[in-house]
Amino acid sequence: MKHLHMTLAIISVSFFTLRFFWLLKSPQMLDKKWVKISPHVIDTFLLGIGVVMAVKLALNPTEQLWLAEKLMAIVAYIFTGIYALKFARNRTMQIFGYVGAMGWVMLVFKIAHTKETFFF
Ligand code: HEM
Repeated sequence: MKHLHMTLAIISVSFFTLRFFWLLKSPQMLDKKWVKISPHVIDTFLLGIGVVMAVKLALNPTEQLWLAEKLMAIVAYIFTGIYALKFARNRTMQIFGYVGAMGWVMLVFKIAHTKETFFF
C-alpha cells in the first residue's frame, strides 16, 4: 500500500510538472478532457490511500504532529499549484507559483520520509 502511495505521489507531481510545461509551451493541451480529469483521479487515490494507511496505523494528526504538518503542507501545495496553473496572471507569477508549489511538495516528501516536523 505504501509503495502504491509513493508511486502515485511521484506520478502526481510529475503530471503537475508536465501540465505546467504545457501551460508555458502548448496551453491547448490543458483543455483536453483527459488532462483535466486524470489529476483528480490520481490525487483522489493518492490522498485516499494516505488516509487508509493513517487509519490502519492508528495515526492521529493531533498526536503525530508530523502528520498534521504534512497535511498542512499538502493543502499549501494544492493551493499554490492551482494558483500556478489557473490564477497567476503572467509568466513571472506562474513560475513563482510553480516554484512555490514544488517547495511545499518537497516539504511533504521530507516529512513523509523522516516523520519529523519542520515548523512545529
Ligand atoms: C501530496 C500528497 C502526498 C504525498 C506527496 C505523500 C508522500 C508520501 C511518501 C513519499 C511516503 C513514503 C515515505 C517513506 O517511507 O519514505 C508516504 C507515506 C505515508 N503517507 Fe503520504 N503523501 C501524501 C498524502 C498523504 C495523506 C493525505 C495521508 C494521510 C492523511 C498520508 C499518509 C501517509 C502515511 C500514513 C504514510 C506511511 C508512513 C509509514 O511509513 O508508516 N499521505 N507519503
